[in-house]
Amino acid sequence: NTTPLIDPFARPITYLRVSVTDRCDFRCTYCMAEHMQFLPKKELLTLEELDRLCSTFIGLGVRKLRITGGEPLVRRGIMEFFRQASRHLGNGLDELTLTTNGSQLGRFAGELADCGVKRVNVSLDTLDPDKFAAITRWGRLPQVLKGIEAAKSAGLRVKINAVALKGFNEDELFSLVQWCADEDHDLTFIEVMPMGELGEEEDRLDQYWPLSDLRARLAERFTLIELAERTGGPARYVKLHETGQKIGFITPLTHNFCESCNRVRVTCTGDLFMCLGQEDRADLRTPLRASPENATLVSAIREAITRKPKGHDFDYSRQTVAGQMTRHMSHTGG
Ligand code: GTP
Ligand code: 5AD
Ligand code: SF4
Repeated sequence: NTTPLIDPFARPITYLRVSVTDRCDFRCTYCMAEHMQFLPKKELLTLEELDRLCSTFIGLGVRKLRITGGEPLVRRGIMEFFRQASRHLGNGLDELTLTTNGSQLGRFAGELADCGVKRVNVSLDTLDPDKFAAITRWGRLPQVLKGIEAAKSAGLRVKINAVALKGFNEDELFSLVQWCADEDHDLTFIEVMPMGELGEEEDRLDQYWPLSDLRARLAERFTLIELAERTGGPARYVKLHETGQKIGFITPLTHNFCESCNRVRVTCTGDLFMCLGQEDRADLRTPLRASPENATLVSAIREAITRKPKGHDFDYSRQTVAGQMTRHMSHTGG
């Protein structure tokens, strides 16, 4: 049956994020541990299984599909997956897109555009090559900048995602904004969420740069015009009057957006996470493999949606971190 998915808080689930691999060629410090134990291949859903899952969700009313990871473009055969997924565009699916670190865009941007991808979100927190190498633990900035350039040349709209990090990229606020204006990229800032095991020196509270502060600093130099438009994700947008560019804010800490949550996540092993900020999950791999018919799978999905929580428990407001999770962000792809 194809009744749309609606959760207990009357939120329609129309956005599916699919993590196609837990691997990444970088190790951003707030996202992964330096030495990650990656999953053995046999644990992973095949691309055919992932495709079947996506199709099933689209049959249940999902209109927006975002491919994530780890780094989605390091999964072998991923272009064939995109090609298959593109058959749903205009056929239930409004948007097929991905979030990437940009390192492989030089190779794949053209093919992605051919598959009907219209825009990509690229994670980039700094424009300083040394700081970039530090935050990614070994990434090379020029490679990513080339990837972004390739995306633009292929006609893809680029949105830069920058995690706002105190003492790290505070001093780059205006240079990031300026660079995005010059290059005609959209830019979204994200508040750092308390996920993953922390390194010895690490403390998410120390790293936390509330976007209310960032926004106030922007407002000292620019006129911010609130935009009502949304992209189906959690970001709220403003337009800078002086440059005409669009800036987004993802504020799980200062302005919880769970009330309008429309999304769930599937990991590369077939676990369905009903909320990014909670550990509860539902195994979809077992029903997926149990039968080529979708009935059991659909029941498992519907049952899981009845368990979708009201929201996350992240909270830094009492000067300590509440809601810290040991699961790494890379597991569910943000
Ligand atoms: P758009 O389609 O451009 O709106 O993208 P998006 O914001 O939905 O996706 P993207 O992968 O760019 O998300 C950026 C980051 O926002 C994620 O990696 C997370 O850190 C955060 N984020 C996205 N969705 C959620 C969510 O449901 N809850 C929370 N707490 N954070 C989220
Ligand atoms: N808090 C906020 N955002 C994070 N990301 C990864 N880890 C975190 C975190 N702990 C972001 C990345 C990327 C997206 C997939 O998730 O920068 O833009
Ligand atoms: Fe949805 Fe959970 Fe994200 Fe809130 S934290 S927006 S409920 S996924």
